[in-house]
Amino acid sequence: MRSAWLTLVAAALAYAAAPSFRGCENKVKDSLHGVPQGWVQQAPAPQDQLIQLKIALAQPSAHELEKHIVEASDPAHERYGQFLSKEEAHELMAPEQGSVDIVREWLATHGLGEEHLYNSAAGDMVTIRVPVAVAESMLDTKFHVYTHAASGDSAIRTTAYSLPELLHDHVSFVQPTTMYARFKPMRSTMHFAGGVKATLAAGSVKSAAGQDVDASCNDEITLSCLQQLYNFGDYKPSTNTTLAVTGYLEEYANNADFQQFLGDDSANFTTTLVNGGKNDQDPSAAGGEANLDVQYAFGVAQPLAGTFYSTAGTPPFTPDKNEPTNGNEPYIDWLDFVLNQTSLPSVISTSYGDDEQTVPVDYAQRVCQGFQTLGSRGVSVTFSSGDSGVGDGSSDPSSTTCIANNGTNAIKFLPAFPASCPYVTTVGATQNVPEVAASFSGGGFSNIFARPSYQDDAVSAFLTGLGDTYAGLYNASGRAYPDVSAQGVNFDIVLGGSHTGVSGTSCSSPAFAGVVALVNDARVAAGKATLGFLNPLLYGAGAGAFNDITSGNNPGCGTEGFSAGTGWDPVTGLGTPDFDKLKTVALDN
Ligand SMILES: *[C@@H]1O[C@H](CO)[C@@H](O)[C@H](O)[C@H]1NC(C)=O
Ligand SMILES: *[C@@H]1O[C@H](CO)[C@@H](O)[C@H](O)[C@H]1NC(C)=O
Ligand SMILES: *[C@@H]1O[C@H](CO)[C@@H](O)[C@H](O)[C@H]1NC(C)=O
Ligand SMILES: *[C@@H]1O[C@H](CO)[C@@H](O)[C@H](O)[C@H]1NC(C)=O
Ligand SMILES: *[C@@H]1O[C@H](CO)[C@@H](O)[C@H](O)[C@H]1NC(C)=O
Repeated sequence: MRSAWLTLVAAALAYAAAPSFRGCENKVKDSLHGVPQGWVQQAPAPQDQLIQLKIALAQPSAHELEKHIVEASDPAHERYGQFLSKEEAHELMAPEQGSVDIVREWLATHGLGEEHLYNSAAGDMVTIRVPVAVAESMLDTKFHVYTHAASGDSAIRTTAYSLPELLHDHVSFVQPTTMYARFKPMRSTMHFAGGVKATLAAGSVKSAAGQDVDASCNDEITLSCLQQLYNFGDYKPSTNTTLAVTGYLEEYANNADFQQFLGDDSANFTTTLVNGGKNDQDPSAAGGEANLDVQYAFGVAQPLAGTFYSTAGTPPFTPDKNEPTNGNEPYIDWLDFVLNQTSLPSVISTSYGDDEQTVPVDYAQRVCQGFQTLGSRGVSVTFSSGDSGVGDGSSDPSSTTCIANNGTNAIKFLPAFPASCPYVTTVGATQNVPEVAASFSGGGFSNIFARPSYQDDAVSAFLTGLGDTYAGLYNASGRAYPDVSAQGVNFDIVLGGSHTGVSGTSCSSPAFAGVVALVNDARVAAGKATLGFLNPLLYGAGAGAFNDITSGNNPGCGTEGFSAGTGWDPVTGLGTPDFDKLKTVALDN
């Protein structure tokens, strides 16, 4: 294998100046303001080291795709709830034949024939595996090994790359090149809360909505607490609506733990392997994040069928091994897989992310558009908002994770991605009864995505109240999140046969997704379509179906962070769901 790839290096160098691209100037496609914060440049990358690159082709119908989701998610539009089929979505994702041809021609000049290419289902993404020498020649750059000082992770990257000018209109990006997001290990938004409480409070307390809730819910959260707080205890799902959660990083969801959690030997869920993902059911291999996600998303929605997507993750990359490095890129492969399914779950929850500033803009836009396309296919997509408040949760104002990567070293609140994508529903965290904001609840404003119109009124009202506070620390024109929230502290889960407590917005997203699955079930039972992309409904008629959370704040970057208050806020969004009210709104629209 190794020698075959070395032959390819030689072939590529011989082809370096092929006729049709000769005379065509290289032009910079992306460049960074130096090495990003927290990373250190090491030696030049070994010339024969294999790397995997994704070449994203331009999508001429991207605006059509966007029009579809805007119409299909707007309750006032005649096309509300009219979703695309797999074939229709793929057609709108597809590149022009001219782009396909010119990119093939360019790849051929570097010795890469059809047999070296992996094409995505919609044809919009070409994956190649090439030695560093070939990649350097293709992209007119030098790759180095970079290490992330705090974690010790290594990656082969560059700070700029070029493409022949001829290709600029046809190629959106080639990554990972300038991407420094550490999706591997992608940061799961969960932390262990410690053991479970030995003694739980007896009796009941009142929720903000005036309902009686077990006082023990102040000690630990169970499915029963969520039923009481979010008002879905009496609902019996009756359709074949399904839901899913995604797993990465070799996190396995354990079926036996799920059955023990529900106290039901017949309960179950399906694991679907994506792109080389695995499924290890040994109790010692059960992942905290994976178990949390399936137990709460699928637990809330019982008996609706759940799917756990296990997407490949690899051990940390060692730069001296002659093996392809993992692309460090989880979302594009997963989106390619899931958008190639004919029938999809009604809601999919994900509890991973990283700082938005570590993600190249064109990459963030393409991935966000993938979530948008899922919405156009009728899927509600939920993400955790992150566990660092407005920054890294540290009171140290010089904390490196609050420093803008753009060359100025300015202290900035740091939004998270994909939480900042305007086409997902981002879920923050609350705690206690009556509910208040959890201090770690991620919230803020995107520097990539502009504020979508569905949240104009809600966000403007918040900003008016905020005035000059924190001016310059956040981007007032950006997409603001979270959209909603749910409990996120001290969830009781079963892990490897034992009960343990976990916290994080990793708890909140699956809990909320479970409630959405129930609402979708009610819609389908009434002969209606699933809800698809939720936000226009939630910020509109749905706003009254949330328990507004009005106290607490999310400190970070040496500040107190934003404060929860009446109406939408960047700590708890619109608030926590009241299933009964949400169902009524959903059935009226
Ligand atoms: C997409 O799905 C079709 C039909 O199920 C299958 O033949 C094809 O290989 C899939 N494409 C990719 C890239 O997975
Ligand atoms: C649910 O059942 C309907 C018909 O009863 C079928 O058309 C649809 O494909 C099923 N959906 C799933 C997700 O199985
Ligand atoms: C649960 O699902 C797994 C795999 O999907 C299967 O191996 C197992 O037998 C199922 N258990 C029950 C009790 O249905
Ligand atoms: C970098 O961030 C600072 C602080 O917000 C901002 O004023 C400046 O315009 C940014 N510079 C660039 C080049 O984006
Ligand atoms: C602020 O957000 C907008 C998108 O709404 C973006 O175009 C702009 O570059 C951002 N500003 C900074 C300093 O990042």
